[in-house]
Amino acid sequence: MTRTPVNVTVTGAAGQIGYALLFRIASGHLLGADVPVKLRLLEIPQGLKAAEGTAMELDDCAFPLLRGIEITDDPNVAFDGANVALLVGARPRTKGMERGDLLEANGGIFKPQGKAINDNAADDIKVLVVGNPANTNALIAQAAAPDVPAERFTAMTRLDHNRAISQLAKKTGAAVTDIKKLTIWGNHSATQYPDIFHAEIAGKNAAEVVSDQQWLADTFIPTVAKRGAAIIEARGASSAASAANAALDHVFTWVNGTADGDWTSMGIPSDGSYGVPEGLISSFPVTCKDGKYEIVQGLNINEFSRARIDASVAELVEERDAVRGLGLI
Ligand code: NAD
Ligand code: LMR
Repeated sequence: MTRTPVNVTVTGAAGQIGYALLFRIASGHLLGADVPVKLRLLEIPQGLKAAEGTAMELDDCAFPLLRGIEITDDPNVAFDGANVALLVGARPRTKGMERGDLLEANGGIFKPQGKAINDNAADDIKVLVVGNPANTNALIAQAAAPDVPAERFTAMTRLDHNRAISQLAKKTGAAVTDIKKLTIWGNHSATQYPDIFHAEIAGKNAAEVVSDQQWLADTFIPTVAKRGAAIIEARGASSAASAANAALDHVFTWVNGTADGDWTSMGIPSDGSYGVPEGLISSFPVTCKDGKYEIVQGLNINEFSRARIDASVAELVEERDAVRGLGLI
């Protein structure tokens, strides 16, 4: 059977994550090894030439699943008929920039892109925001797209999720595949909370296997939460291949489902679960099935976890209030 290609839009396509992402999308790692794709690359005018170079290289790979590449600096063209949108391009914080300046600069990107998605995307559009501050950028885009169901706007915390699995595997000597049900709560920032109290290592409770509260509080949580900064310090540039890999994982799981007995972490609009104010885009434990996600309900949140979830959610509330004050939502 010949499948209709899926339209995948990538913003910031000429950036370092874009370069690590596009070849893997075209080789089937976003949606599946049997799903053809058409790529739309959105860049600012200064990025178009580099995006054209990347498109030449994509052509040179002769990927069987790649059915077309279009490059544009017009969001209305980029999101026309889009089924999946990966919003990677964002304004990085530069010297002398205050947090409010950063939010405002990104509002200038994510508000028009949200509107362009609203006006042009396919009915089944799924959006993943990678560009930082990812949760609040997703909120801005979602608010500008009133005709798209809010739950289609998500923010990436899968990199944090994968980082946490890897750190836990290293500590316990387990294989990464033995670790299930780990959760990232809150914001993709240093306040995020990687929670192992419900996680399992080869079927045993992870917190009991580790049984070292000091390692948890003083090593594990800060290592995962500050990993992005540690990569920047070591590499002189922010994570790119691992971020691209996490974006592929996020969408692949959303579309193709979580495994039985496991869940993943996604930044999604809160429905009020676990005391997270409704509408905030916060990371939760979710299961995915048939292209939809659901928050895992009924987890017992201990005092240690509660304080940390609340702190990260408080930061998201602050960011939401700041962008509201700027008229961005
Ligand atoms: P980069 O600077 O290499 O590339 C960004 C690209 O976006 C540039 O090519 C730029 O021209 C383009 N761009 C800027 N404004 C645009 C617009 N309005 N429309 C289209 N394209 C636009 O950055 P990068 O390393 O690829 O990172 C991209 C973003 O991802 C950054 O905000 C980074 O902080 C973030 N990030 C998030 C995570 C996460 O886990 N959520 C992890 C790593 C990086
Ligand atoms: C990461 O987690 O690696 C990035 O979000 C860091 C950054 O500031 O780009």
